[in-house]
Amino acid sequence: MMIEQLKRQAAAMALTQVQPGMRLGLGTGSTARHFVDLLGEQVAAGFDCICVPTSEATARQAAGLNIPLSDLDTLDRLDITIDGADEIDPHLNLIKGGGGALLREKIVAAASDLMIVIADSSKLVETLGQFPLPIEVNRFGLGATRRSVAAVCASHGCAGELRLRQADAGGDYLTDGGHLILDAFFGRILQPEALSADLLNIAGVVQHGLFLNMCKKAYVAAPDGVRTLSS
Ligand code: A5P
Repeated sequence: MMIEQLKRQAAAMALTQVQPGMRLGLGTGSTARHFVDLLGEQVAAGFDCICVPTSEATARQAAGLNIPLSDLDTLDRLDITIDGADEIDPHLNLIKGGGGALLREKIVAAASDLMIVIADSSKLVETLGQFPLPIEVNRFGLGATRRSVAAVCASHGCAGELRLRQADAGGDYLTDGGHLILDAFFGRILQPEALSADLLNIAGVVQHGLFLNMCKKAYVAAPDGVRTLSS
């Protein structure tokens, strides 16, 4: 089965959790994109909801489908955020931010009563860290921040590179918030809570892609069906 079909099946399962009138967070990435597509079909058929997008890309997609949009200045809390992930461990801890939207994704997920992750089964791992961990940093003071991030990552077993993400078109990749991303190649992240705290302790670090104890439910699609995982 094509991977896009699996992503769509996971997205369709998440849609079954959405009730009329809900306030939803809309994730970013190729899997979340399927969910937004399916929600758009419902909205076109008269379904009522209000949504906060986690990126400019998702905002554009949702607006094109006439999905009503709002923000977290207007809405205090959201009912459910539906988003993808780059890695999912057995506790439903995640690495996110492969698409660069980690900061808004984390803000929106933190403002939601429930975060549901949708994914194909290639995202399941025993231990986080095979996927490079995105670390969003301020442009100002990049050299100093980078050295501090490298030291923290090394103290957590990162022997590999700390790479400044590049845009497809060339030049430094910029997030929607105008920040840079350092991708840290760990292999295995054995103490994600401690790593998270140490990274957030660095002044120039805006956010990182470890989503710990945030996701309570995941729909993971494989060729033999969609599994529901809970934490
Ligand atoms: C966006 O910044 C990411 O957090 C995505 O949610 C994550 O990279 C998953 O993307 P895909 O669904 O495209 O794999």
